[in-house]
Amino acid sequence: MPQMIDGKAISAQIKDEVKEQVAALAAQGKKVCLAVIQVGNDPASSVYVGNKKKACAYVGIESLAYELAAETTQEELLSLIGELNAKDEVNGILVQLPLPAHIDEDAVIQAIDPKKDVDGFHPQSVGALCIGQPGFVSCTPAGIIQLLKRSGIEIAGKECVVIGRSNIVGKPMSLLLLKENGTVTVTHSRTKDLKEVTKRADILIVAVGKPKMITREYVKEGAVVIDVGIHRNENNKLCGDVDYEDVAPVCSAITPVPGGVGPMTIAMLMYNCCAAVQPAGVS
Ligand code: GUN
Repeated sequence: MPQMIDGKAISAQIKDEVKEQVAALAAQGKKVCLAVIQVGNDPASSVYVGNKKKACAYVGIESLAYELAAETTQEELLSLIGELNAKDEVNGILVQLPLPAHIDEDAVIQAIDPKKDVDGFHPQSVGALCIGQPGFVSCTPAGIIQLLKRSGIEIAGKECVVIGRSNIVGKPMSLLLLKENGTVTVTHSRTKDLKEVTKRADILIVAVGKPKMITREYVKEGAVVIDVGIHRNENNKLCGDVDYEDVAPVCSAITPVPGGVGPMTIAMLMYNCCAAVQPAGVS
């Protein structure tokens, strides 16, 4: 059977490292504080926001929760972001996505001070990543790099195929793999003969958004498979974009769902919050 990449254990290790850093900063009189804004009460967003607050409490980061009504105007939201930008004691600002349809997500992301952009979504953060300069990196792809490194999986020189080109996962993922000297191919809904491309991958990152779409016909024998998807199947059980039972026997390492990529996102958010306080910023 393949190596099971344990996101629960690795994320716990990272959170414990961050906890130590937060304590070291506290000893220098520096506090870490994250402002989390949720607009409306989408149930999935409420779960994510709740988990972020819990993680903050665990590592010793103060969290300020702003739960705004679904009818909040864009102007009101931008004004709150402006206030939080100006507050020295707030180190990180996170606006939970998606936002209600009447609010322009891009305008909101761009209103966040890049020095407080712990989600790594601001164009300045994305641009820095693109040209190899220090800056905040989107938490899910940053977490995947940690999963690979801490599982002893070499990226340099490997054929890496990413399925999906979203701003949050696919694009930053491809840039990070490139930074680690992987040979990177990005595929998407218009890719012709997807299987032909994914079968070349030594490392296959799947962020396609369709339950159990990736079966063993897409996977080379011995590949490493990372599943970013999270869905509920017909029995209300969690499953990923990868058909785990079908794919696991042919690969060398694989992430489960749940307990793979999911817990890494929050661990890296904690890491980014801590980095926001360091004078040198993030690397
Ligand atoms: N919605 C789904 N994932 C994320 C995330 O990583 N950050 C924010 N802000 N919203 C999300």
